[in-house]
Amino acid sequence: MKNYLSSSQMTLRMFAADLLVLSSILSAAWCLSVLNVSVPKTLNSTSGSCLLIPCLFNISKEKQNILDSSPEVTWRRGSLWSLYDTDGFTIAHRQKEPVMEVVGDLRKKNCTSVMRNLTSLHSDRYYFRIQAVNFSVTGTTAVHINVSESVAEPNVTVPVLREGEEVNLTCTVPAPCPSHPPNVTWAPALGGEVTQRTHLNADGTQSVSAILNFVPSVHHHELKVNCVSVLPLHREDRPLLSHKVVILNVEYPPKETWISLTGLVWLGDNVTLTCQSKANPPAVHRWFMKRAGVEEELSISRVLSFTAAHENTGEYICEAQNLYGAMNSTNLQITVLGQSVLETIEFLHCYTSVFLNHFGTSLESEHFFRKFRSLNN
Ligand SMILES: *[C@@H]1O[C@H](CO)[C@@H](O)[C@H](O)[C@H]1NC(C)=O
Ligand SMILES: *[C@@H]1O[C@H](CO)[C@@H](O)[C@H](O)[C@H]1NC(C)=O
Ligand SMILES: *[C@@H]1O[C@H](CO)[C@@H](O)[C@H](O)[C@H]1NC(C)=O
Ligand SMILES: *[C@@H]1O[C@H](CO)[C@@H](O)[C@H](O)[C@H]1NC(C)=O
Ligand SMILES: *[C@@H]1O[C@H](CO)[C@@H](O)[C@H](O)[C@H]1NC(C)=O
Ligand SMILES: *[C@@H]1O[C@H](CO)[C@@H](O)[C@H](O)[C@H]1NC(C)=O
Ligand SMILES: *[C@@H]1O[C@H](CO)[C@@H](O)[C@H](O)[C@H]1NC(C)=O
Ligand SMILES: *[C@@H]1O[C@H](CO)[C@@H](O)[C@H](O)[C@H]1NC(C)=O
Ligand SMILES: *[C@@H]1O[C@H](CO)[C@@H](O)[C@H](O)[C@H]1NC(C)=O
Ligand SMILES: *[C@@H]1O[C@H](CO)[C@@H](O)[C@H](O)[C@H]1NC(C)=O
Ligand SMILES: *[C@@H]1O[C@H](CO)[C@@H](O)[C@H](O)[C@H]1NC(C)=O
Ligand SMILES: *[C@@H]1O[C@H](CO)[C@@H](O)[C@H](O)[C@H]1NC(C)=O
Repeated sequence: MKNYLSSSQMTLRMFAADLLVLSSILSAAWCLSVLNVSVPKTLNSTSGSCLLIPCLFNISKEKQNILDSSPEVTWRRGSLWSLYDTDGFTIAHRQKEPVMEVVGDLRKKNCTSVMRNLTSLHSDRYYFRIQAVNFSVTGTTAVHINVSESVAEPNVTVPVLREGEEVNLTCTVPAPCPSHPPNVTWAPALGGEVTQRTHLNADGTQSVSAILNFVPSVHHHELKVNCVSVLPLHREDRPLLSHKVVILNVEYPPKETWISLTGLVWLGDNVTLTCQSKANPPAVHRWFMKRAGVEEELSISRVLSFTAAHENTGEYICEAQNLYGAMNSTNLQITVLGQSVLETIEFLHCYTSVFLNHFGTSLESEHFFRKFRSLNN
């Protein structure tokens, strides 16, 4: 019972202390506004790498002179509640703290800092603090630092790829530690050129892009291309890899158009003609027919079906078209055989006599040619 009381008393005392801290922070934030700090809300980095914290600040005019007295500038970690509770930190705790170095010019209100030797244990909220001989102040805006064991997947942007039109594929990877940036590449390079570029983002962080400049061809269609990011780390000899695969979709006009026909065509057959084409995006197909020198458009469809009749004899053409162009198949001659029993016999008789005239005796041939000449004269 006694134990319980004392522990609850302690909790109360701690709560009172927290309230005191909170009120002092609130007064600092809303009444005095001695120090305003501008940092990104969250920053990500990787265990074994470093982290640049872009940071700018304003300090009230009355306190500005402390910047000339080379004050101690640090970052305090923790929640707002435990912010000032740093005396509780043991030496062991301190050794586990990240190495923080202010690299910005304080007189230019630049508190940009680098955090080194990062481990995931360093994930926390951090507050910027200026400490002079007789004055110290802590910013009330925290940067939430997230140190993970992995790296984010690269961000790849692929525009519409058209055959023969030069394009850029862009792969972007954050570079939280600009002194050890990732090496970003494209593989394969598709006969193009890869250039690397470093960007300064609006929030002061940096990123590295690999730009692949190439001219897409039909052979690149459905090809896999890999963007690979290699991040050097301090903690190990082995760098950390991340990658993203993209499957290319190259658009092109119809390349090949042909008609596939199933079976022979006899009178009364059900005929199916299919228009085949190689095109991206897929083509729209149109059918044409030429008969006795007259051309007509039959339908807009990939498949043409009919029950064979005399008037279906003619030349068939299919056209494949997409937004990039059109291409016609070669003409396909369809002759509907066996119009009637009599016609068939006539056809076979004619066929037989021509055969005999070609391959029969020379006498018969001479007879045929004489007859042929007399007919022509
Ligand atoms: C940090 O990483 C998380 C998860 O990967 C992501 O959602 C977030 O946008 C990242 N933040 C920044 C500032 O890059
Ligand atoms: C500092 O003051 C300038 C001018 O008033 C303002 O533009 C800037 O946003 C302020 N920066 C911060 C961190 O408060
Ligand atoms: C900090 O920001 C507050 C609110 O925007 C403003 O009233 C105050 O003057 C700023 N302080 C400094 C030192 O810039
Ligand atoms: C702040 O300092 C860093 C490190 O020197 C520098 O890269 C950055 O450009 C500075 N920012 C501004 C706004 O001057
Ligand atoms: C950072 O880590 C490396 C490798 O573990 C070590 O050699 C170096 O002394 C560390 N730097 C600091 C400042 O602790
Ligand atoms: C201590 O504070 C006073 C009043 O703000 C100031 O005049 C003096 O320069 C400060 N001393 C140092 C060493 O910064
Ligand atoms: C921190 O990073 C991890 C891994 O990238 C992610 O899952 C998590 O959402 C991140 N947290 C924040 C607050 O960005
Ligand atoms: C990837 O980059 C594009 C273009 O820069 C951007 O609009 C998009 O938000 C980015 N996506 C991620 C997950 O960062
Ligand atoms: C590709 O990037 C290069 C270099 O940045 C630029 O000169 C070119 O105009 C870009 N091409 C296209 C099609 O965007
Ligand atoms: C980046 O990677 C490419 C391909 O692996 C390599 O040729 C190049 O030397 C690397 N660049 C750096 C700076 O490591
Ligand atoms: C042709 O198709 C029609 C309608 O689908 C069907 O009635 C007929 O039996 C078919 N003819 C042949 C020879 O398959
Ligand atoms: C395909 O053939 C039809 C019929 O002859 C014609 O009208 C059309 O213009 C041709 N299309 C192409 C792309 O040659």
